Amino acid sequence: MPRHVAIIMDGNGRWASRRLMPRGMGHRAGVDALVRTVQACARRGIAYLTVFAFSSENWQRPQEEVSGLMSLVLSTVGRHLEELASKGVRVRIIGDRSAVSDKVNQAWLQAEEATRHNQGLTLTVAFSYGGRWDVVQACRRALESGIRPQDLDEAAIARHLSLSYAPDPDLLIRTGGEMRISNFLLWQSAYTELYFTDCLWPDFNEVELDRALQSYARRDRRFGRVTDADAGVPKV
Ligand code: IPE
Ligand code: IPE
Ligand code: MG
Repeated sequence: MPRHVAIIMDGNGRWASRRLMPRGMGHRAGVDALVRTVQACARRGIAYLTVFAFSSENWQRPQEEVSGLMSLVLSTVGRHLEELASKGVRVRIIGDRSAVSDKVNQAWLQAEEATRHNQGLTLTVAFSYGGRWDVVQACRRALESGIRPQDLDEAAIARHLSLSYAPDPDLLIRTGGEMRISNFLLWQSAYTELYFTDCLWPDFNEVELDRALQSYARRDRRFGRVTDADAGVPKV
């Protein structure tokens, strides 16, 4: 079982279009899929779930869709926070908060504060997040801490990345059929196992999650080394 699962929740717009509905309906259905998935991961004992909800690049979508997504944050925190909090879920947000309105930042802060002491699954929502932004802000903060250039190593950068509290993701799932990272956890996914499915995010459920977990269980994670299997030693 992976300790840390990351998900690029893609395909909301197409899910809605196929039903002749506005894209916003797809995002709404996507929230239900997220709540289901958080609970399913918690039941399976996964410690960290990190989901890509809104990318640095998503700001370039039509204003109507962006403002719809911002409203969805407010209603989602209002509707689902208590339920998730009661299940021991700890919520954290990563991303560029300076681009986000005060109202939305307040809602995220409320979610973080209300779940601060929870001991169950850590749900990280990447919002206004980009992997390149993350590396840049980490370097900036490292420099601000007074580090000398010769001491700026991988560990120093990793300490300042926004997910520094979590191990690197073991498994990255992308729904919606595209096979790309779209500027998600660039640094942290150096050795993450990738799993792509055509399932559109609003259709994602426990069966789909278990398919991804089963695929993960079959992977041979070598991290650049030679394993017994490569060396011809039979598995016992
Ligand atoms: C993912 O679904 C949600 C966000 C990026 C906010 P999309 O909105 O990208 O859905 P598709 O890919 O257009 O179907
Ligand atoms: C990635 O999906 C971002 C999120 C799921 C939040 P996009 O739909 O924005 O990615 P591209 O444009 O297909 O690469
Ligand atoms: Mg998309």
